[in-house]
Amino acid sequence: MEGHPNIDTDNINNPHDNYKDIIVTPWEVLGDLEEKTYIKLIEKFGTQALSEELIEKFKKLTGEIHPLIKSQYFFSHRDFDWLLTKYENGDPFYLYTGRGPSGSVHLGHLLPWLFTKYLQDKFGSKLLFQLTDDEKFLYNLGATRETISKYTSENILDIIAIGFKPNLTKIIIDTKHINHLYPIAMEIAKKITFSTAKAVFGFTNTTNIGMIGFPPIQAAPCFLPSIIENKPTPVLIPAAIDQDPYWRITRDIAAKLGFYKPAQIHSKFLPSLSRGISKMSSSKPETAIFTTDEPEIVEKKVLSSFTGGQATVSLQKKLGANADICPVYGYLKYFFDNEKESVERYIRCKSGNLLCGECKSDLANNTRTFIIEFKRKREKAKDKVKDFMFD
Ligand code: TRP
Repeated sequence: MEGHPNIDTDNINNPHDNYKDIIVTPWEVLGDLEEKTYIKLIEKFGTQALSEELIEKFKKLTGEIHPLIKSQYFFSHRDFDWLLTKYENGDPFYLYTGRGPSGSVHLGHLLPWLFTKYLQDKFGSKLLFQLTDDEKFLYNLGATRETISKYTSENILDIIAIGFKPNLTKIIIDTKHINHLYPIAMEIAKKITFSTAKAVFGFTNTTNIGMIGFPPIQAAPCFLPSIIENKPTPVLIPAAIDQDPYWRITRDIAAKLGFYKPAQIHSKFLPSLSRGISKMSSSKPETAIFTTDEPEIVEKKVLSSFTGGQATVSLQKKLGANADICPVYGYLKYFFDNEKESVERYIRCKSGNLLCGECKSDLANNTRTFIIEFKRKREKAKDKVKDFMFD
């Protein structure tokens, strides 16, 4: 975030914050994404870890433990237990998630969406999917409305390709469907002071006022289901944990407006393919695998990825490698390996019995197959866009 006039993370000045070294805002994630960082994030943000009991409760309803829960890709929540109890007592919930259309969609984006689809299938939930084209236009200094609009249309194809049910899913584009959001956004905005927004988001005197006014627009879909259904309706937001600041302010004012607090289930970030860049990022194309990449490009990116390996083969055989910091291992674990395969890979890696070339080639093969299939679905999505639009 160096030098970005919209956000100054030093401004997120919670005096009780013991974790000032971890910078996670909705617009930037800095720092090492190790296990212990995520544990600290739970404390920093005041969320709850997904406990064994809660996972059991979830399992009772779904019949199994989803791989992204098992692998702890989803690791934290707010009120997920409350939401499941509501469901058990006959109160269905909406799902709400979204995408900031600032570039092409990469594999990291797909994991929370695939999990959202799973929840929709299991619970028969209606889904609101928001595209914050306003947010991305306002935040990215170089963005024009044309480029953001192009990515909005492109990204919608990725969303539809996930396989959400058209009869249960509505895509909201902020600039297009603002008439539905604005009345609620106004109610929300009136209850949030600039001082709160500064402390939560890091806004400063040089932040453009569009950004300052934006958060209620992302909060609005949390309450829209209650308006559509004409009764208080529980909402679950599956999203990466960087979006939590939005839900914090939304939860603070929910009761004042007569709504339930939105529940969340938070994911980690998929690591980037290069060292020193913590999460896959559309703004650094060489570090991310896009759903639109050609198979040869996918292969090239994977083969030139940073790994947790040693400098030479003989050192690796002797010392073993470091799967904990290896993006190739991470991708395989969250995307392609089952639990058993992943554990075996980890052990072989640590003990020096597995060389990076083998993991890279496994990842390249899996990713190539996945992308070819995903692209086919993405092509088909072109005829379905109308069915998914909010109105
Ligand atoms: N702000 C999010 C982004 O930049 C987009 C978004 C809007 C979103 N509503 C959401 C993400 C709800 C998760 C859940 O990507």
